[in-house]
Amino acid sequence: MAVDPAGPRQSGQPRDGGYGEALFEPWRPGEGERIDLGSLTYDDTTRRRLLALGVGPGSRCLEVGAGTGTVARWLAEEVGVAEVLAVDRDVRFLEPHAGGALHTLAADVTAPGFDPGRFDLVHARFVLMHLPEHRQVAARLAGLLRPGGHLVLGDAIDLTTAAPPDSPYRLAMRAMWRALHTTIGTDVGWTPQYPRLLAGLGLTGVGAEVTVPPLTAGSPIAAFWLDTWKRSRPAMLATGLVTEDTLAVAEQALADGTAADLSPGLITAWGRR
Ligand SMILES: C[S@@+](CC[C@H](N)C(=O)[O-])C[C@H]1O[C@@H](n2cnc3c(N)ncnc32)[C@H](O)[C@@H]1O
Repeated sequence: MAVDPAGPRQSGQPRDGGYGEALFEPWRPGEGERIDLGSLTYDDTTRRRLLALGVGPGSRCLEVGAGTGTVARWLAEEVGVAEVLAVDRDVRFLEPHAGGALHTLAADVTAPGFDPGRFDLVHARFVLMHLPEHRQVAARLAGLLRPGGHLVLGDAIDLTTAAPPDSPYRLAMRAMWRALHTTIGTDVGWTPQYPRLLAGLGLTGVGAEVTVPPLTAGSPIAAFWLDTWKRSRPAMLATGLVTEDTLAVAEQALADGTAADLSPGLITAWGRR
């Protein structure tokens, strides 16, 4: 698929009820800022890993589910890669930044015709966990690599909610994961299997790491969860796993830095073709 340097275009139809429209309402003010709180938390980890894997000025990169484009812009403007194609179903947060080595493409990576070329780096962060067909999508993304290229996949990893104690914070987190599952299809139960998934695709040099940011008062990650809970509040309450009162206590604990627990983290996994 050739990229139109004049701007984004559609490839396939967005999926009904797909990521975010129902829950996060990207047209409502603040959604770009919410995504950026995740970037502020995790971009250092992602950058370090991509550089360690040898991404550099000659690289041709595909950034899948690029969101507000912080990783794509860093690749284009600071690493100085040859080209970055930033793909998202919804490019409203990307378009203002396109230019130079950075191109955008409005496309659904699950659409049958999605084939944007071949790349030295294919990266997707916090995308596959929202896609029930994540195995097929991972295989498709691996198929977009040039020989020697790297597939790097990052998603949330939940280290706490399966077990007691049933603190307000854990009850709220459980309700959030259930709400994301019923509305979007999000599932983080499988993400610890990432290394096996990548090895099963025939990739070599497979590795993985986990980053868990501390839940300190005023931190970007605390603000991210508070904002995520705010946007998904009706769906969280509808799960029956948390009440208004419990949620209020959990929110206060996050705001004060007194949750005394682990945040969900980022698992980053990679492999080479
Ligand atoms: C949680 S955001 C993550 C954004 C960015 N990768 C980051 O880490 O900051 C998920 C992004 O993936 C996009 N997305 C979800 N499903 C997609 C699909 N099937 N095809 C393309 N983009 C998708 C969403 O529109 C959203 O921008």
